[in-house]
Amino acid sequence: MTSLPSIAIIGAGSMGGAILGGLLAPGVSVEGGIRVTNRTEAKAARVRRPGVESWALEDQPDANARAVRGARLVLIGVKPAMVPDTLASIAHDLDPDAVVVSVAAGVTTATMEAVIPQVVLRAMPNTPALVGLAVTGLARGSRAGDAEVALGRALFETVGTVLEVGEDRIDALSTVSGSGPAYVFLLIEEMTRAAVGMGFTPAEADELVRGTFRGAVELLAASESTPEELRLQVTSPRGTTERAIAVLSAADLTGLFGRAMDAALARARELAAGA
Ligand SMILES: NC(=O)c1ccc[n+]([C@@H]2O[C@H](COP(=O)([O-])OP(=O)(O)OC[C@H]3O[C@@H](n4cnc5c(N)ncnc54)[C@H](OP(=O)(O)O)[C@@H]3O)[C@@H](O)[C@H]2O)c1
Repeated sequence: MTSLPSIAIIGAGSMGGAILGGLLAPGVSVEGGIRVTNRTEAKAARVRRPGVESWALEDQPDANARAVRGARLVLIGVKPAMVPDTLASIAHDLDPDAVVVSVAAGVTTATMEAVIPQVVLRAMPNTPALVGLAVTGLARGSRAGDAEVALGRALFETVGTVLEVGEDRIDALSTVSGSGPAYVFLLIEEMTRAAVGMGFTPAEADELVRGTFRGAVELLAASESTPEELRLQVTSPRGTTERAIAVLSAADLTGLFGRAMDAALARARELAAGA
């Protein structure tokens, strides 16, 4: 049983909403309640349910201030460009001992600390949070101690696993686990396309490829073997798989992934610089 203190989520869209889902999971109790805000009532209605007070700024302009009063954990789930103004708008209503956690890509803890005096943490979850299988990178701001990091960790563990890293590595982490689901979906798309090209119907190709990815990932999770060992088990010498792997290797897959993730890292740095 995970027990968390009172929580406010400012901006419960895709990511804030996914984390709200974690808080509502069996085995999680939030003492003191959950309050969430969005700009529009349409969004607020989507996340309103028993145990969740959900308010829209368009109906209640002071909803953010009301939501954070008395909250020990405040999750900031708005778009990165809006984080400083959003923090400034709640600065006078935050509890002195609130822990403010942002999931905004590219917004540094120094930027947040310049606006509010509270402890801040910066997190980078990923979209499998929606099914409780996120990998979240968590970085502490300069004022955070182990107890506050433990609180942030407990929050994100409701939607998966958490790796604490120094903030200097959070952009790199975002190119691995943050963007990573997109790389996997791209591989699934390409394999499905190739299967259709070999004469399978789209439905058949979809079933074959989805099942293969799911099976391979579950096998990896259940096994003591490394991915390389599991790959070699499928790759008999002089067999068919060996030919396919040779073609992929000849296309410099290693270099390709390195270049792709370097490009994502360069973009993260541009975004952090406001580009
Ligand atoms: N999606 C991902 O995979 C992912 C991964 C890691 C981190 N993140 C981070 O998560 C943050 C949100 O991204 P998202 O994809 O979840 O975006 P999103 O779905 O657009 O969610 C943002 C939410 O914030 C609400 N909002 C806007 N202004 C607000 C305000 N002043 N007060 C309260 N709520 C406000 C919006 O409500 P309305 O729609 O009603 O305007 C919207 O529901 C971003 O900073 C992003 O960097 C996202």
